[in-house]
Amino acid sequence: MTSSGTPSAAGRFPAGRRAFPHRDLVGIAQLERHEILYLLEEAEQWVSLNRQSAKHTDNLAGLTIINAFFENSTRTLLSFEIAGKRLGADVVNMHAAQSSVKKGETLIDTAMTLNAMHADAIVIRHGSSGAVELIASKVDCPVLNAGDGQHEHPTQALLDALALRHALRERGQNADDFTGLTVTICGDILHSRVARSNVLCLQALGASVRLCAPPALMPQGIDAMGVEVFHDFDAALSGTDVAMMLRLQNERMQGQFIPSAREYHHLYGLTAKRLAARAPDALVMHPGPMNRGVEIDSDVADMLDRSIITRQVEMGVAIRMACLDVLTRKARGVAGWADGEWV
Ligand code: NCD
Repeated sequence: MTSSGTPSAAGRFPAGRRAFPHRDLVGIAQLERHEILYLLEEAEQWVSLNRQSAKHTDNLAGLTIINAFFENSTRTLLSFEIAGKRLGADVVNMHAAQSSVKKGETLIDTAMTLNAMHADAIVIRHGSSGAVELIASKVDCPVLNAGDGQHEHPTQALLDALALRHALRERGQNADDFTGLTVTICGDILHSRVARSNVLCLQALGASVRLCAPPALMPQGIDAMGVEVFHDFDAALSGTDVAMMLRLQNERMQGQFIPSAREYHHLYGLTAKRLAARAPDALVMHPGPMNRGVEIDSDVADMLDRSIITRQVEMGVAIRMACLDVLTRKARGVAGWADGEWV
């Protein structure tokens, strides 16, 4: 906050525009560049708070947040739960395995049930693309997408951008935006909501994005997103600034997409040798969960000077705090930026 009591983070906000006009966070596709930057800058205060021993605020005191996860999750669920609790909200987790979904309840009935409980924000992970948007259309509170099918995973892309910013800054590089930066995303692009959200977010911040996968795991027509498509990992890695590795999402595959994990590792695995030969200074990222020895070798994942995988996890909590805080401001009657002014 500045001395006048207005947050400095949004100082460069374009005149005539509200800082964050959206009720929900369904995808990066809905966000403009300045809205992405706003969320990243809002998250910085939470990065600092999270590094202190006392990590509690009462910004969201009295609010109820429901995490409704219809798919497995470790990092995303835990970090949304920690984020809500550190902001002072009451956080309730609904696991689909123990819910009435298993008794045949429809998604809309589940949404209506959550709505009737007067949740103040609902965080949803679901196996079907579009499910989060459907629930958002049925409830009265902000809805945050924690991953829907193969569609989007916006908080993952935001936390990746924040982790990258911090790592670039530590290297003394420009991190205000990613102009001039080349990021190579390699893995099961076809089934990955992380890849999709990251392409949109990285491009919005100025980066060039290369996508690399075996032909069977590359979506048709993906080059329409303005990315460079590669099937040869060595070529895709050459001269890249960042290597973002994705696991094979076997649970989404129907049929055989790759001959064997061994062959996949040979062609598309990130090894120390490959990295040294093709991109000796590149940062290494992975959203987790990692399959060590398949898409990434242990010695690469654990490289202290290059791998920012644990940093990504750290930034996940801060980004989710920023998203929950910003999206609940209207309900809390907290002011926001409009027309370049704090109102
Ligand atoms: C990803 C997801 O669930 O989409 N993981 C995550 O949220 N950190 C990627 C994955 O499951 O491979």
